[in-house]
Amino acid sequence: MHRTNTCGELRAEHIGTTVVLSGWVQRSRDLGGLTFVDLRDRYGITQLVFNMDADAALCESARKLGREFVIKATGLVAERSNKNDKMPTGHVEINVTKLEVLNGSKTPPFTIEDDTDGGEELRMQYRYLDLRRNPVKENLLLRHRIAMETRKFLDSLEFAEIETPYLIKSTPEGARDFVVPSRMNEGQFYALPQSPQTFKQLLMVSGYDRYYQIVRCFRDEDLRADRQPEFTQIDCEMAFVEQEDILNTFEGMVRHLFREIKGVEFDVFPRMFYDDAMEKYGSDKPDIRFGMEFVDMASVTKDKGFPVFDAAEAVLGIAAPGAAEYTRKQLDALTDWVKRPQIGAKGLVYCKCNADGTFKSSVDKFYSQEDLQAWAQLTGAKAGDLMFLLSGDLDATRKQLCELRLHLGNELGLRKKGTYQPLWVIDFPLLEWDEDSKRFHAMHHPFTSPKPEQMSLLDSDPGAVKANAYDMVINGVEIGGGSIRIHDREVQKRMFKLLGFSDEEAQAQFGFLMEAFEYGAPPHGGIALGMDRLCAMFGGQESIRDFIAFPKNNSGRDVMIDSPSPIDEEQMKELCIRSTVAPK
Ligand code: AMO
Repeated sequence: MHRTNTCGELRAEHIGTTVVLSGWVQRSRDLGGLTFVDLRDRYGITQLVFNMDADAALCESARKLGREFVIKATGLVAERSNKNDKMPTGHVEINVTKLEVLNGSKTPPFTIEDDTDGGEELRMQYRYLDLRRNPVKENLLLRHRIAMETRKFLDSLEFAEIETPYLIKSTPEGARDFVVPSRMNEGQFYALPQSPQTFKQLLMVSGYDRYYQIVRCFRDEDLRADRQPEFTQIDCEMAFVEQEDILNTFEGMVRHLFREIKGVEFDVFPRMFYDDAMEKYGSDKPDIRFGMEFVDMASVTKDKGFPVFDAAEAVLGIAAPGAAEYTRKQLDALTDWVKRPQIGAKGLVYCKCNADGTFKSSVDKFYSQEDLQAWAQLTGAKAGDLMFLLSGDLDATRKQLCELRLHLGNELGLRKKGTYQPLWVIDFPLLEWDEDSKRFHAMHHPFTSPKPEQMSLLDSDPGAVKANAYDMVINGVEIGGGSIRIHDREVQKRMFKLLGFSDEEAQAQFGFLMEAFEYGAPPHGGIALGMDRLCAMFGGQESIRDFIAFPKNNSGRDVMIDSPSPIDEEQMKELCIRSTVAPK
């Protein structure tokens, strides 16, 4: 028998029993007469004691144990003289009577501690060792719990988990596809799914009116902290529903997850129109844990002789609470910050609201105290606050001010860890104009339905058409998105046309879906939540990487298995691929 108990299990009530534990040597301390070994497994750490007086040979072998050796120890559970209240097993120790080394270990390249000395690259290369560390382990177990609670909730509502294929067909919409050559079909390729979108819609046509799948998706796009080339969605679809049913169902799911996993209840789960989100926060995923809403400052800033504002399409402002104490140095730093190419502002105008009711702005030359008073009235700034103004063309200014608002939110401690505020952003536009290709793109995807009452606008003013499309946002992170779908062949055809597909292209790419719509497609809609983002949110981190057991690095590489990698000539030949680039 390898173990009677785990290393996280023994308590005072076990004192006097004989146990067998197996695990990894976390550390050992040789105090002459006594040797202590901390034995670790997934469940915790238990202290082993080897006593020179009791068994010198055994004590000698304990001294030889290296870090991360795998051992099996038999012994008597005893009360610890110096108890450690920080450890769940800290009241007991094991007086070892028998020791077996199950396997040795090389000295690990970094310490297996909560705060490791290993850098990112090294940890990724030895990911199996990194996964032994508590913080990463906790993340993966949290992910497991989220998956279990998700399944429990959806199962209770009759959602059926149905798998859809990974080898599918490449489509031009959305991100780039990862493609897989087909040996049996010379010169042809599968694509890995960016999402199971069309399959889940087909399942609705098939009558499985509540589908879900915790499913891997693949997108060949530039990576960021919240993006991986392969990631997981909680993908859902429902038939015979309207937007309201979907919002209520998945609001319920998120409430369930927060309740079960974090013990958090939400009073409100607000909804905001996309247009309002853009106007008030300059973003379709606002963090509404704090205010600092945008104010249109044109009426109080223009025609006062300040050429920058006079020439600008938009002048937008925010009031930062309690920030009037910012020093000149801090304000210069903020100005430099918004002028970085990543933000791209040309400059930053600010105005302090002093305690004595006076104002001090960076543009005092152009604006009187009365003018600045009007600014404060409009932004709602009070004594002790600081107003910031940015100007330029509307879209760019919104983006810049959005970044500044979030940055200030962090600096002023308004985005507190452990606080959560979910939000539905609804009524997204159906289409967005792409200047580069001079055509409309689907804002969500080509299967999203226009709002029925706006169908007539499709020809006259397509850009103005809104969709029953919604995003779930928590703390400024887009956690999920979905929509009510088109279920009518003719509407779908029209949509493809608007997106620049010829009839032939639409038929070749999506003929199967349009044909399915001719065989009794029910009204349907759905949503997909980003599982990795949800886990990172629950774990209080921005990067999703440590919530994935074996993630890719920023160049899309798995440095542990060294992938992607060249394949040999023979394999290439078999797949009818000719190399055009010499492998590095
Ligand atoms: P969408 O493309 O909005 O919708 O994706 C849904 C959610 O998946 C997450 N996500 C990602 N997470 C990590 N890495 C990525 N590269 C990545 N890309 C997306 C986000 C996002 O909100 N088929 C539709 C859903 C539907 O209409 O039902 C879809 O895929 O959290």
